Amino acid sequence: MYSSSAASSSSRFSPRRPFSAAIVILILTFLCSMFIVGFIYLLIIVKHVETSIYENLESKWHPDQIPMNHKPFLYDLRLKLYFAWNKNLSFDQQENTFDGSVRINFESGGGSRIILHSKNISIEECFLIKPNGEEIIVNNMTYGDDFDIFNIFLDFEMENERNYSLKINYSGKFEEKNKYGLFQIPYANGQKYILATHLQMTEARTVLPCIDIPSAKAQFAVTLIHPIGTHAVGNMMENKISNDSNWTTTSFKTTPFMSTYLLAFVISDYPYLEKVTKNGIRTRVYCDPEKIENAKLAISVVEPLLDFFRKIFQCVLSSR
Ligand SMILES: *[C@@H]1O[C@H](CO)[C@@H](O)[C@H](O)[C@H]1NC(C)=O
Ligand SMILES: *[C@@H]1O[C@H](CO)[C@@H](O)[C@H](O)[C@H]1NC(C)=O
Ligand SMILES: *[C@@H]1O[C@H](CO)[C@@H](O)[C@H](O)[C@H]1NC(C)=O
Ligand SMILES: *[C@@H]1O[C@H](CO)[C@@H](O)[C@H](O)[C@H]1NC(C)=O
Ligand SMILES: *[C@@H]1O[C@H](CO)[C@@H](O)[C@H](O)[C@H]1NC(C)=O
Ligand SMILES: *[C@@H]1O[C@H](CO)[C@@H](O)[C@H](O)[C@H]1NC(C)=O
Ligand SMILES: *[C@@H]1O[C@H](CO)[C@@H](O)[C@H](O)[C@H]1NC(C)=O
Repeated sequence: MYSSSAASSSSRFSPRRPFSAAIVILILTFLCSMFIVGFIYLLIIVKHVETSIYENLESKWHPDQIPMNHKPFLYDLRLKLYFAWNKNLSFDQQENTFDGSVRINFESGGGSRIILHSKNISIEECFLIKPNGEEIIVNNMTYGDDFDIFNIFLDFEMENERNYSLKINYSGKFEEKNKYGLFQIPYANGQKYILATHLQMTEARTVLPCIDIPSAKAQFAVTLIHPIGTHAVGNMMENKISNDSNWTTTSFKTTPFMSTYLLAFVISDYPYLEKVTKNGIRTRVYCDPEKIENAKLAISVVEPLLDFFRKIFQCVLSSR
């Protein structure tokens, strides 16, 4: 407005003309530079958003190491455990190993890349199941270098906010040196073993490919196939137990939503003491047969403890 009025009345204000033109140029230069700065800033932000979900991949214990764009809500896990629990058993090459298959149901955040944690397990086959049930074999899978990362690249884009599943077959070994992960403990003077898990802090990834971050809570439906003569105890009550010639298959009820590190099970031939509480809850204490006398105290305090926790947390417990 100022410049046009200056132009229309050019004769009267002719001495001020070069001055007003300078102001216009100044304003235009200012606007242009602001525009350029804004544009560069926008480019940086856009680029930042594009790369930021993968930027912590090499920080093994970062809470955002794996982007949470895909949200697993159910791990349907099946493990066959070649566990020589007594000296008479032998599984040759397969001894101290396990075969696993897991179906991971997840809500996709779109895109064609899925990242999971995986450590010391070798993944054999991987299928993606689309919302319409179509199964697609995944051929492009890579392990990250030393960061427990397992990459799955699809050759198509998933739809955002739709449910997909991954079906993965793999195998692994029992941990030998450490008392975490999936490991054996000798008893009866080394004549027998029990098999147990301790998956805190970040060992769930040695038992199944998963998003092994505490906030990535999901449900777990676990089935264990273990040598006949042993029994399996897990997070939940057992659902079904069946035997074939040399193996017992124990499937457990599906857990509530929980963190991966809380997944737990023990395979043993330990005897147990059992008591059913007045509310009908089956409680058991399993232990080394030599120490079963000491378990009497333990089983006697389970019911008062359950009552205490029920009051504190105001929750209902049941065997069902
Ligand atoms: C192992 O075999 C021996 C000899 O056959 C037998 O006495 C023993 O009870 C067996 N041990 C187990 C745990 O089955
Ligand atoms: C796997 O996918 C990635 C990302 O799309 C690509 O860079 C790479 O070349 C693919 N590898 C193979 C063997 O197709
Ligand atoms: C995905 O699965 C969950 C759990 O079964 C369900 O609640 C949700 O509605 C499903 N979403 C879609 C888009 O089907
Ligand atoms: C993968 O698991 C399925 C069943 O869960 C089984 O039929 C198939 O043979 C397995 N494949 C491998 C390579 O282990
Ligand atoms: C797991 O892998 C690491 C590195 O690859 C290796 O040092 C370690 O011995 C492995 N553990 C088992 C139980 O195989
Ligand atoms: C399976 O076999 C074990 C050991 O022989 C036995 O104690 C158990 O009762 C059997 N369970 C079923 C469901 O047949
Ligand atoms: C069961 O185990 C015995 C002894 O280890 C073996 O001889 C037999 O072939 C096994 N049976 C099956 C069906 O695998």
